[in-house]
Amino acid sequence: MKEWISRCEADTEQAGAELAGMLSAPCTVCLYGPMGAGKTAFVRGMAAGLKIRDIVSSPTFTIVNEYPGNPELIHFDMYRLSSSEELFEIGWEDYLAREAILAVEWSENVEDIFDGSEVRVQIEKLSDTGRRITAEGGGQC
Ligand SMILES: Nc1ncnc2c1ncn2[C@@H]1O[C@H](COP(=O)(O)OP(=O)(O)OP(=O)(O)O)[C@@H](O)[C@H]1O
Ligand SMILES: [Mg+2]
Repeated sequence: MKEWISRCEADTEQAGAELAGMLSAPCTVCLYGPMGAGKTAFVRGMAAGLKIRDIVSSPTFTIVNEYPGNPELIHFDMYRLSSSEELFEIGWEDYLAREAILAVEWSENVEDIFDGSEVRVQIEKLSDTGRRITAEGGGQC
Protein backbone atom coordinates (compact mmCIF):
# COMPACT_ATOMS: atom_id res chain seq x y z
CA MET A 1 0.00 0.00 0.00
CA LYS A 2 1.13 3.53 -0.78
CA GLU A 3 0.17 6.50 1.38
CA TRP A 4 0.41 10.27 0.96
CA ILE A 5 -0.54 13.07 3.34
CA SER A 6 -1.80 16.04 1.34
CA ARG A 7 -1.98 19.59 2.69
CA CYS A 8 -3.35 21.30 -0.43
CA GLU A 9 -4.75 20.63 -3.87
CA ALA A 10 -1.28 20.70 -5.44
CA ASP A 11 -0.13 17.94 -3.05
CA THR A 12 -3.07 15.79 -4.15
CA GLU A 13 -2.20 16.42 -7.81
CA GLN A 14 1.40 15.44 -7.05
CA ALA A 15 0.21 12.18 -5.48
CA GLY A 16 -1.83 11.46 -8.60
CA ALA A 17 1.19 12.12 -10.79
CA GLU A 18 3.32 9.76 -8.68
CA LEU A 19 0.75 7.00 -8.85
CA ALA A 20 0.35 7.38 -12.62
CA GLY A 21 4.11 7.00 -13.00
CA MET A 22 3.93 3.59 -11.35
CA LEU A 23 1.17 2.20 -13.60
CA SER A 24 1.25 0.48 -16.92
CA ALA A 25 -1.82 0.20 -19.15
CA PRO A 26 -4.27 -1.37 -19.18
CA CYS A 27 -5.17 -0.37 -15.65
CA THR A 28 -8.31 0.74 -13.84
CA VAL A 29 -8.00 3.11 -10.88
CA CYS A 30 -11.10 3.28 -8.65
CA LEU A 31 -11.35 6.48 -6.60
CA TYR A 32 -13.22 6.66 -3.30
CA GLY A 33 -13.85 9.62 -1.04
CA PRO A 34 -16.63 12.10 -0.23
CA MET A 35 -17.70 15.03 -2.37
CA GLY A 36 -14.91 17.60 -2.49
CA ALA A 37 -12.29 15.14 -1.26
CA GLY A 38 -10.08 15.77 -4.27
CA LYS A 39 -10.77 12.87 -6.62
CA THR A 40 -10.82 15.11 -9.67
CA ALA A 41 -7.68 16.90 -8.45
CA PHE A 42 -5.97 13.50 -8.13
CA VAL A 43 -6.96 12.55 -11.70
CA ARG A 44 -5.67 15.93 -12.94
CA GLY A 45 -2.35 14.96 -11.40
CA MET A 46 -2.51 11.53 -13.03
CA ALA A 47 -2.88 13.27 -16.41
CA ALA A 48 0.18 15.42 -15.66
CA GLY A 49 2.11 12.30 -14.66
CA LEU A 50 1.19 10.75 -18.00
CA LYS A 51 2.44 13.91 -19.78
CA ILE A 52 -1.07 14.78 -20.92
CA ARG A 53 -1.39 18.55 -21.29
CA ASP A 54 -5.16 18.83 -21.69
CA ILE A 55 -7.16 20.58 -18.98
CA VAL A 56 -8.81 17.90 -16.85
CA SER A 57 -12.25 18.84 -15.56
CA SER A 58 -14.91 16.80 -13.85
CA PRO A 59 -16.96 14.62 -16.18
CA THR A 60 -19.94 14.83 -13.82
CA PHE A 61 -22.39 15.67 -16.59
CA THR A 62 -20.72 13.82 -19.43
CA ILE A 63 -19.84 10.70 -17.39
CA VAL A 64 -16.66 10.17 -19.39
CA ASN A 65 -13.83 12.37 -20.71
CA GLU A 66 -11.06 10.96 -22.88
CA TYR A 67 -7.53 12.34 -22.99
CA PRO A 68 -5.23 11.13 -25.80
CA GLY A 69 -1.79 10.10 -24.65
CA ASN A 70 0.58 7.18 -24.46
CA PRO A 71 -1.19 5.58 -22.70
CA GLU A 72 -4.42 7.50 -23.00
CA LEU A 73 -6.35 8.46 -19.87
CA ILE A 74 -10.09 7.90 -19.67
CA HIS A 75 -11.80 9.68 -16.77
CA PHE A 76 -15.22 8.52 -15.55
CA ASP A 77 -17.53 10.08 -12.99
CA MET A 78 -20.20 7.57 -11.96
CA TYR A 79 -21.94 10.00 -9.58
CA ARG A 80 -25.06 10.17 -11.75
CA LEU A 81 -25.24 6.46 -12.49
CA SER A 82 -27.44 4.32 -10.34
CA SER A 83 -26.53 0.98 -11.86
CA SER A 84 -23.79 -0.60 -13.89
CA GLU A 85 -26.28 -1.37 -16.70
CA GLU A 86 -26.08 2.28 -17.79
CA LEU A 87 -22.34 1.90 -17.96
CA PHE A 88 -22.53 -1.02 -20.34
CA GLU A 89 -24.74 1.14 -22.59
CA ILE A 90 -21.94 3.72 -22.64
CA GLY A 91 -19.56 0.97 -23.76
CA TRP A 92 -17.56 0.02 -20.66
CA GLU A 93 -16.33 -3.17 -22.33
CA ASP A 94 -14.89 -1.18 -25.23
CA TYR A 95 -13.08 1.15 -22.85
CA LEU A 96 -11.61 -1.84 -21.01
CA ALA A 97 -10.25 -3.18 -24.30
CA ARG A 98 -8.42 0.06 -25.15
CA GLU A 99 -5.14 -0.54 -23.26
CA ALA A 100 -5.74 2.73 -21.42
CA ILE A 101 -5.54 4.02 -17.87
CA LEU A 102 -9.15 4.29 -16.62
CA ALA A 103 -9.76 6.57 -13.62
CA VAL A 104 -13.19 6.12 -12.05
CA GLU A 105 -14.78 8.58 -9.60
CA TRP A 106 -17.74 7.32 -7.53
CA SER A 107 -16.76 3.73 -8.23
CA GLU A 108 -19.08 2.60 -5.44
CA ASN A 109 -22.07 3.28 -7.70
CA VAL A 110 -20.97 0.58 -10.16
CA GLU A 111 -18.98 -1.70 -7.86
CA ASP A 112 -20.17 -4.90 -9.56
CA ILE A 113 -18.33 -4.10 -12.83
CA PHE A 114 -14.92 -4.48 -11.18
CA ASP A 115 -13.05 -7.79 -11.03
CA GLY A 116 -10.62 -7.10 -8.18
CA SER A 117 -7.58 -6.31 -10.31
CA GLU A 118 -8.11 -2.52 -9.96
CA VAL A 119 -6.02 -0.01 -8.04
CA ARG A 120 -8.15 1.41 -5.19
CA VAL A 121 -7.44 4.99 -4.16
CA GLN A 122 -9.11 6.31 -1.01
CA ILE A 123 -9.07 10.01 -0.17
CA GLU A 124 -9.98 10.80 3.41
CA LYS A 125 -10.64 14.36 4.59
CA LEU A 126 -8.55 15.12 7.68
CA SER A 127 -9.45 18.83 7.81
CA ASP A 128 -10.48 21.64 5.46
CA THR A 129 -7.32 21.17 3.43
CA GLY A 130 -5.73 18.02 4.86
CA ARG A 131 -6.17 14.69 3.11
CA ARG A 132 -4.89 11.16 3.65
CA ILE A 133 -4.59 9.33 0.36
CA THR A 134 -3.95 5.61 0.09
CA ALA A 135 -3.54 3.39 -2.95
CA GLU A 136 -3.62 -0.39 -2.93
CA GLY A 137 -4.17 -3.32 -5.24
CA GLY A 138 -3.70 -3.22 -8.98
CA GLY A 139 -1.59 -6.33 -9.27
CA GLN A 140 -2.03 -6.33 -13.05
CA CYS A 141 -1.22 -2.65 -13.66
N1 LIG B 1 -5.53 18.70 0.12
C1 LIG B 1 -6.44 18.91 -0.86
N2 LIG B 1 -6.48 18.09 -1.93
C2 LIG B 1 -7.41 18.26 -2.90
N3 LIG B 1 -8.35 19.23 -2.91
C3 LIG B 1 -8.34 20.08 -1.86
C4 LIG B 1 -7.40 19.96 -0.80
N4 LIG B 1 -7.63 20.95 0.09
C5 LIG B 1 -8.66 21.65 -0.39
N5 LIG B 1 -9.10 21.15 -1.56
C6 LIG B 1 -10.24 21.65 -2.33
O1 LIG B 1 -11.23 20.63 -2.35
C7 LIG B 1 -11.86 20.60 -3.63
C8 LIG B 1 -11.63 19.24 -4.27
O2 LIG B 1 -12.39 19.22 -5.44
P1 LIG B 1 -12.46 17.97 -6.41
O3 LIG B 1 -13.38 18.39 -7.51
O4 LIG B 1 -11.11 17.49 -6.78
O5 LIG B 1 -13.18 16.88 -5.47
P2 LIG B 1 -13.93 15.54 -5.88
O6 LIG B 1 -13.56 14.52 -4.86
O7 LIG B 1 -13.64 15.23 -7.30
O8 LIG B 1 -15.46 15.94 -5.69
P3 LIG B 1 -16.77 15.34 -6.40
O9 LIG B 1 -17.22 14.17 -5.59
O10 LIG B 1 -17.76 16.48 -6.33
O11 LIG B 1 -16.42 14.96 -7.80
C9 LIG B 1 -11.29 21.73 -4.45
O12 LIG B 1 -12.11 22.86 -4.30
C10 LIG B 1 -9.92 21.95 -3.79
O13 LIG B 1 -9.44 23.26 -3.92
MG1 LIG C 1 -14.85 14.96 -8.96
